[in-house]
Amino acid sequence: MALGRNAVYPEKLGEEMKIEFTGIATRRSGTLAVGVSKGGRLSASAKKADKGTNGAITRALKISRFDGKKDQMEEILAPNGIGAGRIILYGIGDPKKLDAAAFENIGGRLIGRTNKYLDSTLAIAVDAESAGKLSVAEASASIALGVRLGSYRFDRYRTTEKKENKPSVRTVTVMSGDAARARREFVPLNRIADGVVLTRDLVSEPANIIYPETLARQARQLSKLGLKVEVLDKTRLKRIGMRALLGVSQGSAREPRVVIMRWNGAPRSQKKPIAFVGKGVTFDSGGISIKPSSGMEEMKWDMGGAGTVVGLMCALAGRKAKVNAIGAVGLVENMPSSTAQRPGDVVKALSGKSIEVINTDAEGRLVLADVLWYVQNRFKPSAMIDLATLTGAMIVALGHSHAGLFSNDDQLSQQITEAGLATGERVWRMPMHESYEPDIKSEIADIKNVGAGRSAGSITAALFLQHFVNGVPWAHLDIAGMAWCYKATPTVPKGGSGYGVRLLDRLVADYYEDRTARKK
Ligand code: BES
Ligand code: MN
Ligand code: ZN
Repeated sequence: MALGRNAVYPEKLGEEMKIEFTGIATRRSGTLAVGVSKGGRLSASAKKADKGTNGAITRALKISRFDGKKDQMEEILAPNGIGAGRIILYGIGDPKKLDAAAFENIGGRLIGRTNKYLDSTLAIAVDAESAGKLSVAEASASIALGVRLGSYRFDRYRTTEKKENKPSVRTVTVMSGDAARARREFVPLNRIADGVVLTRDLVSEPANIIYPETLARQARQLSKLGLKVEVLDKTRLKRIGMRALLGVSQGSAREPRVVIMRWNGAPRSQKKPIAFVGKGVTFDSGGISIKPSSGMEEMKWDMGGAGTVVGLMCALAGRKAKVNAIGAVGLVENMPSSTAQRPGDVVKALSGKSIEVINTDAEGRLVLADVLWYVQNRFKPSAMIDLATLTGAMIVALGHSHAGLFSNDDQLSQQITEAGLATGERVWRMPMHESYEPDIKSEIADIKNVGAGRSAGSITAALFLQHFVNGVPWAHLDIAGMAWCYKATPTVPKGGSGYGVRLLDRLVADYYEDRTARKK
């Protein structure tokens, strides 16, 4: 069963837009999209449509600035001679330069545009000569993925939106000379998209809806996909001794949870599992070190790391990845109250280290300290990767283009960097030199939870985490600048971005799965 948006909102079942694959055929109605490459060269489908309309495309090209450059589009309304009510010409530029991401963008742009019309169908023709480096089947599947990712909307709380402002397209048909293979290629991509959509939903939800208990409930749903899901409640966490995590949650009426998800896709493998750990602060008010009120609502997405881990496990199980993977999320709400942790408190982490809590707003590292330690000791993973909206300083350093990568392992860093380039979910490695260590030395405890002033805030945070990593190859992704999308792209609408799901799914596919490397 496919999860995805239906996992969170079963009431939406059936409302989903349909994506299908067929051969290239004439259309009786709706929008038809055909490719044009640079210099205004018509693809085979474009030529056919041009003939069918008695030269409408050729005439349109003469009076338009559109000349087939990549990312350009032009359209012809109510053409004579063919059934389609609208033809969109999509620019391909130099077909040889097109990769999967380029086709995803074409799909995303086309659905974004067509959804603004009245048409309920969009048919996209993909010709062999425009597929570039890819096979026509791969290009078609990538377009379909772009359509799915680009058409995502978080709209469950809009009750007064007019019908004419809602997306119109119900069916998207991707037409090619190799429909059967395109359909097959799309199967795993569609399952990855389920994961991305699930992450986006979780991240976009407000904190009165998604809090530790309800986020754990969502993760539990993944057992339908064959994952083993274990939820540790407050009593268990106390017994285990996750006092750093518990300290963060003690000011909130919402009880903490830690969720462990296990996907056993390579049961005969002797290899140790790969582990993913997510920061799940379902709301970060800052605690007693309270944040300014302006913009505080954004801290509903401070569970972005956990959201990505849940979506990633959904994707891996959905596409039946031949890997053994652990997903673990630490779920807390960081609130000020009379029971809240105070600045200056000292807590003893699960690892035994004592931490002086200088600033209660540096809470993510306290949560991760305990979950990282727990996961590596319980599962002895071959590699451990955590994701966290950890520091505002990360946004200052890298903005919204790259996540910060911090790691104790060059090979793992290299692999994550490659996966980032392959998926467009980019990372940039940051230094973690021991020369920053004195910044987090405490006068009275083993370590303190903030560095010196505002300098190197993301680095000292990563160094703090490293204290709770015991030699295993480990990478920390600070996704503070990536979890939320402020400026829509063709495949990522505003809101929860789902960043990291595709990146880490690709990392698994290319380097950790029990089979010869998946093709690019
Ligand atoms: N969740 C925030 C980091 C954050 C800020 C993420 C903005 C996304 C957007 C984190 O818990 C935090 O508050 N960090 C502090 C650390 C400081 C107190 C050392 C920060 O970045 O200011
Ligand atoms: Mn904080
Ligand atoms: Zn936080």
